Amino acid sequence: MTPGVKPLIAGNWKMNGTRASLRELVAMAEAYDGAMRKRLDMLVCVPATLLHAAASAALGSRLMIGAQDCHVAASGAHTGDIAAEMIADAGAVAVIVGHSERRTDHRETDGLVRAKAEAALRADLLPVICIGETGAERQAGQTLDVLGAQLDGSLPSAPAVVVAYEPVWAIGTGLTPTMADIAEAHHFVRERLVARHGPAGRAMRILYGGSVKPANAAEILAIDHVDGALVGGASLKSADLLAICACCPG
Ligand code: PGA
Repeated sequence: MTPGVKPLIAGNWKMNGTRASLRELVAMAEAYDGAMRKRLDMLVCVPATLLHAAASAALGSRLMIGAQDCHVAASGAHTGDIAAEMIADAGAVAVIVGHSERRTDHRETDGLVRAKAEAALRADLLPVICIGETGAERQAGQTLDVLGAQLDGSLPSAPAVVVAYEPVWAIGTGLTPTMADIAEAHHFVRERLVARHGPAGRAMRILYGGSVKPANAAEILAIDHVDGALVGGASLKSADLLAICACCPG
C-alpha cells in the first residue's frame, strides 16, 4: 500500500458473463457497505453487453462498473467497436486499456493504448492502463526496461489514471512473481510516475494483477506501492472478490 492512497480492487470479467451473472454483481454491491466504502474503492469491468444492466444493478451502491476496452474515436464508421462516450452513456465510470490479451490478440501498441486512455479521459472515464512483461522478457532480465518503455508509450500526460502491473506470464496461470519481484516492479513504476508527474505521481494508484486470489491477496496487498489489485478469474464469484477485498489493509 501507499500511505494516504485509497486502494482499488478491480474485477475483470473478460469474455465471461451473461445476464444471469448479474446475481454475483448484486451480491457484491450489497456487501459493499459503508465500512468497506471507507476502506477501498471497488470496480467490476464487465463485457460490453452487460454494461448497462450492470450499471443499473449497481445503482445507488457506489460499486463502480467499467468496460474492458474502448475505441479512440467518439463515434464513426468502426464496425464492432465501442466509444468511450458510449461506455459512459451506459452508466460505466472506468475502462481497462492495454490489457495484455488485447495487446496480443489485437496487436495493440503503446501508442494506441495511450490514445485509448486519452479517449477515456475525454469521456470522463477512469482509464486502468495495463503494463507487464512476458515470461521470456523476465527470463532475459528485461522486466524493468519493458515496463519503462510501456509507461513512456502508453500513459497520457494527465495523471488521472490507474496503472495495473500485470506480468503476462502470471495472468490466468496460477503463477505469481515473488513478493520481492512485485515490490521491485511497483517501486520502479512509482519512481517513474513521480518523475513524470511530480507530487501527483505519488498518489496515483498502482494495481497488481495476475492470479490474485483470496489465498495470496493479503500478502500481495501488503507490499509497498501495491495500491490494489486487478482480478480476473477470482472476480467472477462474489465470495472470492469480497474475500480479496477483506484482505485490503486499513
Ligand atoms: P487473472 O487475470 O486474475 O485471472 O490472472 C488478471 C487479469 O488478466 O486482469
